[in-house]
Amino acid sequence: MAERGEKIAMLTCYDASFAKLMEHAGVDILLVGDSLGMVLQGAENTLNVSMHHMTYHTKNVAAGAPNTLIIADMPVGSYEHDNEAAYKNALWLIKSGAHMVKFEGGGERVNTARYLIERGVPICAHLGFTPQSVNQLGGYKIQGKTSESAQKILQDAIAMSEAGVSLIVLEMVPAKLAKQITESIKTPTIGIGAGVDCSGQVLVLQDLLGIYNGPAGKAPSDFKSPRFVRNFLKDTHSIQSAVACYVRAVKEKTFPAVEHCY
Ligand code: KIV
Repeated sequence: MAERGEKIAMLTCYDASFAKLMEHAGVDILLVGDSLGMVLQGAENTLNVSMHHMTYHTKNVAAGAPNTLIIADMPVGSYEHDNEAAYKNALWLIKSGAHMVKFEGGGERVNTARYLIERGVPICAHLGFTPQSVNQLGGYKIQGKTSESAQKILQDAIAMSEAGVSLIVLEMVPAKLAKQITESIKTPTIGIGAGVDCSGQVLVLQDLLGIYNGPAGKAPSDFKSPRFVRNFLKDTHSIQSAVACYVRAVKEKTFPAVEHCY
């Protein structure tokens, strides 16, 4: 799709009913994201998500969408320590129905990407803002704003691409940087808060529906959606058509618009 210039529409998905709805609405890739820790479990971040959570939700999504590419997130702690453990955990996700696994990080994870790819596991890298490192990054902040940090993300993307990853998610980076990365590598890029020039887009389902309003136990009025979020349900009459509108907007490059970008 990237080669022929068709934008890729990806959405997070955590269960069979939505998976079926998304498959029929033309979503190209379903991401079983560890964002489920926030949007399903009500936590502040993704740090409590386990392999058991991920395999459970991956099985449900795979049951609902047998004809769609499914990517499952490797949760924090499942891939950083040693490559053999990363491989076993990745295989567990693949046996649960994922076709590809995603993990966060650049240069420091290239070796793990290579190890898994050599063993037949397709990899999606995740660069820019990496939610599993939220404490190290000091909060939900745009990455790659200085020329030094932009260079680091670009070099990480090149290294991951050369290692053979199948996709790269770019989260919360300036649109100009995402464009430069997309033009510099063969691997397709999927943006979230990274501008319209990525090869495709991803959104969290609950953000697309306008129903996520912060962690459980905190007042919804204290929560402000990130800039890159658009509520697609607002302008339509059903969840099916909201998802279809998202797919169309990605394909027609009307989403993300300038107001969704950094
Ligand atoms: O977990 C997730 O939903 C993600 C997306 C935000 C890309 O990683």
